[in-house]
Amino acid sequence: MTTADSTSPSPTSGESTTPARRGFGIDVGGSGIKGGVVDLDTGELVGDRYKLPTPQPATPSAVAQTIAAVVDEFGWTGPLGVTYPGVVTNGIVRTAANVDKKWIGTNARDIFSAGLKGQEVVVLNDADAAGLAEARYGAGQNTAGVVVLLTFGTGIGSAVIHNGILLPNTEFGHLEVGGKEAERRAASSVRDRRGWSYEKWTKQVTKVLIAIENAMCPELFIAGGGISRKADKWVPLLKNRTPVVPATLQNTAGIVGAAMAATRGVTH
Ligand code: BGC
Repeated sequence: MTTADSTSPSPTSGESTTPARRGFGIDVGGSGIKGGVVDLDTGELVGDRYKLPTPQPATPSAVAQTIAAVVDEFGWTGPLGVTYPGVVTNGIVRTAANVDKKWIGTNARDIFSAGLKGQEVVVLNDADAAGLAEARYGAGQNTAGVVVLLTFGTGIGSAVIHNGILLPNTEFGHLEVGGKEAERRAASSVRDRRGWSYEKWTKQVTKVLIAIENAMCPELFIAGGGISRKADKWVPLLKNRTPVVPATLQNTAGIVGAAMAATRGVTH
């Protein structure tokens, strides 16, 4: 077991008194709960991430126990961030589009914190976490102005970041686009279910991107989610106006963004 907290000295700092800024993030997904220590100067993980299977059923208390086991693996004692795939305001879960509806109304922050004997926890939307990380350390790092990250998976998640500041809990996946909810039109699960080609699916994605850019004129779209690893197959087929680039942090973005959200001086 390693011991770490937000004031751990940098292993490369030698006699220097400047501590490396470290945070801790946990990404709660449908199949795995992954955590790791994050170097907040570079956005890279310090050592390996640790993953445990998501308990089934994924009730709030079962998830809290798994989170505690992941944190314990690192001996992390500082504040930490945890992602959730829905709207979260002040720690309280407001929506549950693709997870058990029992989550709605629960105070996830307090439940997770109680599982950690009172350790400080910040809970934020999964796409918001990925957006924070991509805007700062990934595909959006050289773009000033409004950056919109969309994650394409079971649903569509969204994050809006303006000059590094997150506007939390946008839910563009639930916008009605041409009479149909965006995520029922263009999530990557829709493509899998229907057996669509990239060409066919990309037409639906274009409609969603046009609806968003008509409403808010972002400088850049970042496409995330598993299907962004195949971006060369479909991003060039998009016909909307705003440039679209694939996410670059891939499966660490949630952990990194969660750690950012929990660390004072990084996003607040
Ligand atoms: C939820 C979002 C979430 C996204 C990706 C959507 O159905 O409403 O909050 O970010 O799925 O998990």
